[in-house]
Amino acid sequence: MQKILVTGGLGFIGSHTVVELQESGYEVVIIDNLSNSQIFVLDRIAEITGKKPEFHQIDLRNKEDVQQFFKSQKIDGVIHFAASKAVGESVKEPLKYYENNISTLVYVLKEMTENNVNHFIFSSSCTVYGQADELPITEKAPMKIAESPYGNTKQIGEEVLKETTSVSDLNGIALRYFNPIGAHSSAKIGELPIGVPQNLIPYITQTAIGIREELSVFGDDYDTEDGTAIRDYIHVVDLAKAHIKALERLIKSSNKEKFEVFNIGTGTGNSVLEIVKAFEKVTNQKLAYKIVERRAGDITAAFADTTLAEKELGWKADLSLEDCLLSAWNWEKAIRK
Ligand code: WQD
Repeated sequence: MQKILVTGGLGFIGSHTVVELQESGYEVVIIDNLSNSQIFVLDRIAEITGKKPEFHQIDLRNKEDVQQFFKSQKIDGVIHFAASKAVGESVKEPLKYYENNISTLVYVLKEMTENNVNHFIFSSSCTVYGQADELPITEKAPMKIAESPYGNTKQIGEEVLKETTSVSDLNGIALRYFNPIGAHSSAKIGELPIGVPQNLIPYITQTAIGIREELSVFGDDYDTEDGTAIRDYIHVVDLAKAHIKALERLIKSSNKEKFEVFNIGTGTGNSVLEIVKAFEKVTNQKLAYKIVERRAGDITAAFADTTLAEKELGWKADLSLEDCLLSAWNWEKAIRK
């Protein structure tokens, strides 16, 4: 049985990917430092799959601990989620982001190349495109100057991976996520934002359940049909499944280049107000919101051209926007019980 290391495996996307890995027959070992996740997620994964993954509470910024881990394990591949991901926070604390998102990547890749672990999946983001000139966005769209240290760490991360694959036996795939939302159908795992949610969907569900008074819609003067910004919202379970496809591509040596990039989205864009209306319809309840100023750094519109992932990975998003919003709502209700 192939053993896969999932760094950040107790986080939002990480935990959903661990479930899909186990259900696809892989043995999973998780490294997480619990800085942005909670230990109860480990038991929830076991409740869903019937198998409790091996877990090590390690901070990947500790080089010696990373070395020790790889010496003590026989790992077949790595899916690397562990990173800080709050755009706003990264502007205030750039060094935290360069240390936590780049140094840790370097330590993991170094140990992989020294221990002959050659399959690596990197958690990247559509943020690397900034405001793309053409929509839908293909993988050929140029990276623009990053609008935040967070976005820059994803651009640099891809470069570090690409250059490492060109001088070693390592093969890597960067998955550029659009906007991951929703939760597992069991409502046992989902998004666990710390403090005031930065992202739209958890803010909506917390407003709907009464924790937040009303949603602030960041601007309605964008050059879009209803004036609010457009994003490509993808169900986190569809996103998790894309990681399995990418890993299998490397294990079977089906990759055509040593370093490959795939956009992982639905290919459909929805505006903030369309999301609000869809949420009201799916949950049959009104959502309190007000229009406020734009949020600094936000782009007008982004949605994916998913042709490459469909053709090369044999992957396509299955779940609908309604599935996303209903699962997010069920999760919110479950954690407030
Ligand atoms: C979506 C839309 C906001 C909150 C970021 C990162 C990206 C990825 C996902 C990590 C925007 C609007 C939001 C609110 C609002 N993160 N909004 N009121 O900014 O597209 O992407 O999160 O990988 O890398 O850049 O996601 O959910 O913050 O915002 O009106 O309270 O909702 O302006 O148009 P974003 P988001």
